[in-house]
Amino acid sequence: MIVLVTGADGVLGSRVCVRLAERSHTVRAACPSGTAVPVAVTKVDCDLEMGRGVADAVDGVDAVVHCATDRRRHRRVDRAGTRNLVEAAAQVGRPHIVYPGLVGADLVPDPYFRSRQAAEETVISSGLGWSVLRSTEFHQTLWESMARRARWPVMVVPAGMRHQPIDPDAVARRLVDLVEGGPAGRLPDIGGPRAYEATALAGSYLAATGLRRLVVAVNRPGIAGAALRAGANLAVGRVTDGAGWNEFVAEMMEAA
Ligand SMILES: NC(=O)c1ccc[n+]([C@@H]2O[C@H](COP(=O)([O-])OP(=O)(O)OC[C@H]3O[C@@H](n4cnc5c(N)ncnc54)[C@H](OP(=O)(O)O)[C@@H]3O)[C@@H](O)[C@H]2O)c1
Repeated sequence: MIVLVTGADGVLGSRVCVRLAERSHTVRAACPSGTAVPVAVTKVDCDLEMGRGVADAVDGVDAVVHCATDRRRHRRVDRAGTRNLVEAAAQVGRPHIVYPGLVGADLVPDPYFRSRQAAEETVISSGLGWSVLRSTEFHQTLWESMARRARWPVMVVPAGMRHQPIDPDAVARRLVDLVEGGPAGRLPDIGGPRAYEATALAGSYLAATGLRRLVVAVNRPGIAGAALRAGANLAVGRVTDGAGWNEFVAEMMEAA
C-alpha cells in the first residue's frame, strides 16, 4: 500500500514509518521541517497548518497515518491542520485515515485535550474511512515533562494524578495493523503496562539523572485537574509488549 505519514519525524510518526517500511509498504513521509526520518522513504514537504503541499501529499495514497501535532500551536496544527488534511484527502481518492488519539480527549476540559478531540471528530465526520486508536502518554512525553519540571530547585508535579506511560513503538505497530486491516472505527483505548503517580515518575527521573530536587506535589485546580485525578487519562486496555517505563529510563541513561 502507499501510505502517507504526517508528523513523520516525530516520536510516533518516525516509528510508524519504520514499521510500515518493514512490512514493505511505500511510505510517504510528511514533515514541515524536513528533519531526517530513520528509514528510506519518500519525503514530502507538507505543512498542514498553512495547507502547503497537502494536496500533493495525499494524492494517490491508500491510507494516511495522521501523527502531526503541536502542543503549543494545537488550535492551528491539530484543529485547522486536520481539517486541511481531510478536505484534501476527500478531493483526491478517499484514503483511509488512521488517527492516534489521546486517552481522555473527551473527558478532560483542557485546551490541548479539546483540540485532540476536535481533530478526532474532524476525522470521524470526514466521510472517509477511518480508524481511531487512543493511547496514553508516551514514555518520551513524560520524560520531557519531568525534565522541564526538574529545571527548578523545587520540582512541582501534579498531586494525586497517575500516568500510564506507553512505548510509542507498541502504538506504531498497532497503527500499522489498522492500515492493513482497513477502516475499523474507534478501537478500545490502550495504555502502558503500569500506572505511576507523578511523584514516582519524578523520583525515577531524579534517580536516573542524579539530579537532587525537592519534589512537591500540588493539586491542579479546576475541572481538568479533577478529571485527571479521577483517572480520565488512564486506559483499561494495557499493552504489555514493548518496553516498560523502567526499561525506557535505563535506555535513556545508557544513551546519555
Ligand atoms: N506524545 C504522547 O504522549 C501521545 C499520547 C497519545 C497520543 N499521541 C498522539 O500521537 C501523535 C504524535 O505525537 P508525538 O508525540 O509523536 O508528536 P511529536 O513528536 O511532537 O511530533 C509532532 C510532529 O508533527 C509535525 N508537525 C508540527 N506542525 C506541523 C504542521 N503545521 N504540519 C505538518 N506537520 C506538523 C512535526 O513536524 P516538525 O518536526 O517538522 O515540526 C512532528 O513531525 C499525535 O496525534 C498525538 O496526539 C501522543
